[in-house]
Amino acid sequence: MAKPAKNPPDISTLTKPKAKIELMRLSLEMEAHNKRYYQDDAPTVSDADYDALRRRVEAIEAKFPDLVTGASPTQTVGAAPARGFTKVQHVVPMLSLGNAFSDEEVTEFVERIQRFLKLDEIPAIVAEPKIDGLSLSLRYENGELIRAATRGDGFTGEDVTANVRTIKDIPTTLKGKHIPAACELRGEVYMLKSDFLALNKKQEEAGDTVFANPRNSAAGSLRQKDVAITASRPLKFFAYAWGEMSDYPMAEPTQHAMIAWLGKVGFTVNPEITSCKSVDDALAFYRRIGEIRAKLGYDIDGVVYKVDRIDWQARLGFAGRAPRWAIAHKFAAEQATTVLEKIDIQVGRTGALTPVARLTPITVGGVVVSNATLHNADYIAGIGNDGQPLRDGVDIREGDTVIVQRAGDVIPQVVNVALDKRPKSAKPYEFPTKCPVCGSHAIRENDEVVTRCTGALVCPAQAVEKLKHFVSRLAFDIDGLGDKQIQEFYDEGIIMHPVDIFTLAKRDERNTKKLRDREGYGETSVRNLFAAIDDRRKIELNRLIFALGIRHIGEGNAKLLARHYGSFTAFREAMLAAAAGQGSEENTSEAYADLNAIDGVGEIVADAVVEFFAEKRNVKALDELLSEIEVLDVAQAKTDTPVAGKTVVFTGSLTKFTRDEAKAGAERLGAKVAGSVSKKTDYVVAGEDAGSKLTKARDLGVAVLTEDEWLALIGG
Ligand code: IVH
Repeated sequence: MAKPAKNPPDISTLTKPKAKIELMRLSLEMEAHNKRYYQDDAPTVSDADYDALRRRVEAIEAKFPDLVTGASPTQTVGAAPARGFTKVQHVVPMLSLGNAFSDEEVTEFVERIQRFLKLDEIPAIVAEPKIDGLSLSLRYENGELIRAATRGDGFTGEDVTANVRTIKDIPTTLKGKHIPAACELRGEVYMLKSDFLALNKKQEEAGDTVFANPRNSAAGSLRQKDVAITASRPLKFFAYAWGEMSDYPMAEPTQHAMIAWLGKVGFTVNPEITSCKSVDDALAFYRRIGEIRAKLGYDIDGVVYKVDRIDWQARLGFAGRAPRWAIAHKFAAEQATTVLEKIDIQVGRTGALTPVARLTPITVGGVVVSNATLHNADYIAGIGNDGQPLRDGVDIREGDTVIVQRAGDVIPQVVNVALDKRPKSAKPYEFPTKCPVCGSHAIRENDEVVTRCTGALVCPAQAVEKLKHFVSRLAFDIDGLGDKQIQEFYDEGIIMHPVDIFTLAKRDERNTKKLRDREGYGETSVRNLFAAIDDRRKIELNRLIFALGIRHIGEGNAKLLARHYGSFTAFREAMLAAAAGQGSEENTSEAYADLNAIDGVGEIVADAVVEFFAEKRNVKALDELLSEIEVLDVAQAKTDTPVAGKTVVFTGSLTKFTRDEAKAGAERLGAKVAGSVSKKTDYVVAGEDAGSKLTKARDLGVAVLTEDEWLALIGG
C-alpha cells in the first residue's frame, strides 16, 4: 500500500516530472482507500480526508492537464470515488412529533398530559416555531464536536460531520465552564428564503439543479459528498433539543433553561420561543406566529408546544414514535382561490419554455400573488412527473378558477381547479409549438418534460448565453471578447448575432461613436480586439460546429461530426438533407441514416443537429456568418509519409513540442496516436522521465525514439 506523504509537496511549486510522481502516489493511495471502503467495508480515513486527496489530484491535473490519464481517479467512470455517507446509530432515537390541526386538539393534548401526570394545574408549556428544515444531532465530548448525524429513519442517520463543520451557526467547541462530558445537541438546519432564491438563481444560470423550496435546498446542500460545496452554501442552524446528556448543566432542568443554555454555549436559538402558562397563551402564540410567518426570513410549517419541566417530559415519555410531552400545531397550507386569467410562456436562457399562470392578484399567507409557475406541458394537462394523473387528471385552462398554494414553498403553485366554476368557453390549453420569443419551433425531446426552443442562433432569450458560448475557449476562442464584453455589446445592441462579431470593425469605421472612445477601451485594445477577431476568420470545422451551441454537441461530438463530413459544405448539405426528412413519424432520409451511423453519434445527438438545421432561421444566421468567415476542411490523413499508418505513443515530458502538438502533427502525417504501449505499437517517442510505457516498449521490443529522432524521421 502507498504510504501517505508526511509533507506533501506544495502544488504551486511542482515541476511537471514531480507532479507526475505525486499523481501516481495519490492514485495508489486512493485506490487502496477505495478497496478498503468498497470491498472490505473497513475504511481507514474519514470522508473529508478522502475528499482532500481527490481535490489534490484535481488541483494537480488542472495545472498539468496532459498528465491526466485514463487511470486517474478523476477519470474513473461510474465514480467509485464518490462515497456514500457512513451510517450512525442514534443513542437516543430522533423521533417525530404528533400533529394538531385545531385549537381543540391542542386543548386535548394539554388535558392528556394533566391526566397522565395527575395534575390539577396546567403544566407550563414552551412554544416554539416549527422550523421547516432538516434535523441534526450533534455529539460533543468534553465540549468538542465529534460527530454530526442526520435524522435518517430516526434510529440510524448519516454521518455528515465534515459537512456540518462548515456551518458557522454550529460551534465546533462549546463555550463556557461546566459543560457536561457528553452532550448530544439537536436542532434544525435551514436556509433563509432570500439565500434560497439567490442560490437557485445561481444554480439556474450555471445549468445546475434548481431546488423546489428552502428545505430541499438545505438538505441538498448539506448532503454533499464534496464538502467544499456545502461550505459554499449559506446553511443556518437553530438548536432546540437534545439527546443523550451525561448530566444537565442547570439547577432546574426545564426546556426554557435548556434553550437559554444552548444560546450561552454558542448556538443560535430561535428568538420567538415563548413560555406559556395556559392553553390560551399557547394559542395566542400560534396566531401571532401565523401572522408574522410571511415576514420571517425562514420557512416554518407550524409551532411546537413542549412541556417545560424535563422531569415531566421523562415521565410522559413516548407513545409510538411521538413524544407525549410535545406536539406540532400545524399551519393550514396557505391557500387561496383566484382566477387564472392567462397562461404566458417564458423562455429561459437555455431555451426552456416555462408556462406561467397570470392570476387575478390575491393574498396568500400575507403575500400578494399574481403569478404562479405551471412547470411544463404535462403539469397543465394533469400528468405528474411519474406519468401518473395529477389533480385526478384535471387539466388547467385559461379562465379557470384555481386554488393557489404557498406551503413552505416560496414559489406559489396552482394546486387545483374548481371545476364547477369552469367557464363553458374554456378550452384545453394548447402548448405552443413555436418559441414565443423568436418564432423558431419548440420541441420536446423523447422522455423529457421540458419543451425547448430550437432557435439556438436566433432566439433573443438565449442569445447572450449562445454568444458567450460562441466565443468561448473551445469554440472561436477570441482574445478580448469574453463573457463581460459579450454581455455589454449585447445590451447595447452592438453584437446580437454571431456574424456581428465579424462585422464589428467595418461598422465601427462608419460609426461616429467609436469603440476606442468607450470607457475601458483605447486605441490599442480595440486594435488588438479587431486583430483577434480577424485571426479567427479561418476556423476549423469542429470548432465551428461546437460554437453553434446545439444541444448535446460538446467538443467530442463536434470532432466526430467534423471528421466524418470533412468540409463545411459537405456537413451543411448533409444536415439540410437530413432535416428535410424530419417532421414525419420517422426520418427515413439517407443523410439521417448516415449521420446516425457515425461511430459515437447516437439518436439524441443526431436529432439535436437535425432540429437545428430544420429551423430555417438558424440556417440563415449560419449562412450570414459564413459570408464573413472561412471554414477549414479537416485535413485528410496522408498515406505517403514515413509514419503513415503507424501507431505512435508519446511518453514522458516532451520539450520540443507539447503533447497536443505532437499528437496533431503525427495525425496530420497519417499516424495513429495511442495512449498505451502494446505489440501493435510501432514507435514510442520518449521524453524526459518516461516511466512504465518506456519499460514496456523495451520489454516488447518496440522501437524507442528520442524527440530529435522522431523529428528526423518525420522530416522536421
Ligand atoms: S422537537 C422528539 N422542536 O419537526 C421530537 N422539532 O415533526 C423532538 N422541528 O424531526 C423534536 N422545529 O425536524 C422540535 N422547534 C422544534 C422544531 C422541530 C422543527 C422538526 C424536527 C422534527 C420534526 C418533527
